Amino acid sequence: EVHNDSGSKRVVVTKSLPGDRWLQFLVNAGCRVEVCKHEDIILNNSTIKKLIGSHCDGVIGQLTEDWSSELFGALHAAGGRAYSNYAVGYNNVRVEEATKREIPVGNTPGVLTETTAELAAALTLAAARRVVEADGFMRAGSYRGWLPNLFVGSLLQNKTVGIIGAGRIGAAYARMMVEGHKMNLLYYDPYPNRQLEEYVRRYGELLQQSGEAPVWCRRADSMEEVLQQADVVSLHCNLDASTRHLINAHRLALMKPNAVLVNAARGPCIDEAALVEHLKANPDFRCGLDVFEHEPAMAPGLADCPNAVIVPHIASASLWTRNGMATLAAANVAGVLSGHPVWNKPDV
Ligand code: DGY
Repeated sequence: EVHNDSGSKRVVVTKSLPGDRWLQFLVNAGCRVEVCKHEDIILNNSTIKKLIGSHCDGVIGQLTEDWSSELFGALHAAGGRAYSNYAVGYNNVRVEEATKREIPVGNTPGVLTETTAELAAALTLAAARRVVEADGFMRAGSYRGWLPNLFVGSLLQNKTVGIIGAGRIGAAYARMMVEGHKMNLLYYDPYPNRQLEEYVRRYGELLQQSGEAPVWCRRADSMEEVLQQADVVSLHCNLDASTRHLINAHRLALMKPNAVLVNAARGPCIDEAALVEHLKANPDFRCGLDVFEHEPAMAPGLADCPNAVIVPHIASASLWTRNGMATLAAANVAGVLSGHPVWNKPDV
């Protein structure tokens, strides 16, 4: 689908994006915009190279695509000067391959912070309170009346939530769990998040003033400490060589047998086969997963674990956020093609 046929700069968008504000940014910057309506969900490199063609000024691409030397080489050869990922995560992008070809890379931070944190919170609650299992039970017509032991789960209040990574999304999730559920916070991050610490301290003071137990926040010395002490552990780190299989069989064994593990970051941060074994061996251990190690596939056996809540990488899927991501991605590309530095770029 082509928009603004007479535009002088050619921009390829590898998937349809929601809303139309993003398109205005590109059209106003004098771009001819070609949106790929390909029926395959995930485009391979040869299809993307065909889309780039012999002349292309900029691309908005997806996290399911492999933006490394092959694609940046093709974009550079076509005269490309800008690339934006339609995502905040950029583990699918070899930024150094773009940089050496002088192609600035953009991403879409900020607009998905609260939406992603909300889904992580939803997974936490759904896993802790066995919402999906209970929903299946109702739909199967199995409900025969109230029972003291029916779908008994874990209460979050006054327990400890652990986060691995206290950046934008991790901190937003932590605030939701601390304030919404009066949970204590143990976080692991190479950098202290003083603002988050202060937020929890003040909230603790408020609780104390009203005669309730105060909450506390502490930065852990090691990830192991979080895994051993927290009742809920949620991952909020980037995926890179240091975080691949961050949660493995050894680390799962450190966790409480009735803990909840949540991942709305990137699938390969967890050794998924090891998680399946752990779920099978520990029926009171629960997890909430938005992302998977080999998307769109799941590790064998995961779908049969009643103690796993699984959703298809939808953490940023609110209309407001997806529109915002489209606008940021378009502004990144339009800005660079109009001679400005890239607006939002990965923190590399
Ligand atoms: C991202 O932006 O990195 C999410 O995974 C999808 O919105």
